[in-house]
Amino acid sequence: MTIWSFCVVAVLALVQLYAAEANLGINYGRLGNDLPRPKEVAELVQSIGVKHIKIFDYDKEIIRAFDHTDINLIVCVPNQEIIGLARSAKAARTFVHNHIDKRVKAAAKITYIVVGNEILSGIPEIWPALVPAMWQIHSALVHYELDEKIKISTPHSMGVLAASYPPSAGVFGDNIKTSIMEPMLNFLKLTGSTFMMNIYPYFPFRDDPVNISPAYALFLNNTGVDDPNTGLHYSNLFDAMYDASVFAMKNLGYHDIPVMVTETGWPSKGDASEAPATLEYARTYNNNLLKHLKSKAGSPARPGKQIEAFIFALFNENEKPGLLSERNFGLFYPNKTKVYDFSF
Ligand SMILES: *[C@@H]1O[C@H](CO)[C@@H](O)[C@H](O)[C@H]1NC(C)=O
Ligand SMILES: *[C@@H]1O[C@H](CO)[C@@H](O)[C@H](O)[C@H]1NC(C)=O
Repeated sequence: MTIWSFCVVAVLALVQLYAAEANLGINYGRLGNDLPRPKEVAELVQSIGVKHIKIFDYDKEIIRAFDHTDINLIVCVPNQEIIGLARSAKAARTFVHNHIDKRVKAAAKITYIVVGNEILSGIPEIWPALVPAMWQIHSALVHYELDEKIKISTPHSMGVLAASYPPSAGVFGDNIKTSIMEPMLNFLKLTGSTFMMNIYPYFPFRDDPVNISPAYALFLNNTGVDDPNTGLHYSNLFDAMYDASVFAMKNLGYHDIPVMVTETGWPSKGDASEAPATLEYARTYNNNLLKHLKSKAGSPARPGKQIEAFIFALFNENEKPGLLSERNFGLFYPNKTKVYDFSF
């Protein structure tokens, strides 16, 4: 073996190592009054071999809890701070200096800053500020030479799609398509970032149990469905929802922006109106999801391209409002006992 071919092999092996490791994470929500201390949480996450955590703010104590671990973090700019950052380059630079650059210098492994959460599913007064805020923060990252290491994006709900079935019909809503999605996709492309979707097969299944079978929603053996326009075969609802976003981007001329599933999961308990919110279904969904992701099969529209996904959520969160299911998406009880068995 020549030195050059050795180098090529070594580089490929490294690339594979990172590629193999890149992608299974958990959302660490903190809307509970009985959750463990951040340091204990970092130990718990390490104990199950998870290397990616997403949080919903940029709390210093939380970020620091993961210093000196091998865990990568996605941090979030809360919705109410977006307009201020969009308006002022100085504000963006101050934010990056105080909350990102200092943390990275101290040891934090921050991989993404997400700007708000599901902004386009509500809060229209923030919409025009969203992409400008992404650019401002990007410019600040460039200033601190962090733009190669840290990317910027924003998670969307399925609500941004006006159609998602069959997947090839996936298209963004008319009210956001050209005004926001086009400039956003342009931003993601120019900065080498990722499109982010929160994908919950649980909701369409709960709302339409007549047309959607449990096996299709839970990655079990079933006949699946064919997309009549593309001939692609879908054996599970997760892939179909994922590809709807791939086709919505394609529809605007963006063919190769990566898609990350920033949230997915299944509640283990629910109100009487939420029949599929059961321990058995939650266990089945999350374990089969992990198997599917680890298989590196990709989705039918992007075969072989391993899907990156973050399960929602680490803990049951007793202060979340809404239906009972909202407080029961956790993989763990607050006392750090697993709600059901699962394996990363
Ligand atoms: C899936 O179902 C088909 C048709 O019923 C059957 O032939 C096949 O053995 C099943 N596969 C598994 C893994 O259960
Ligand atoms: C943890 O909490 C759950 C739910 O309240 C309970 O069922 C379980 O027994 C607790 N485990 C321990 C070790 O206390």
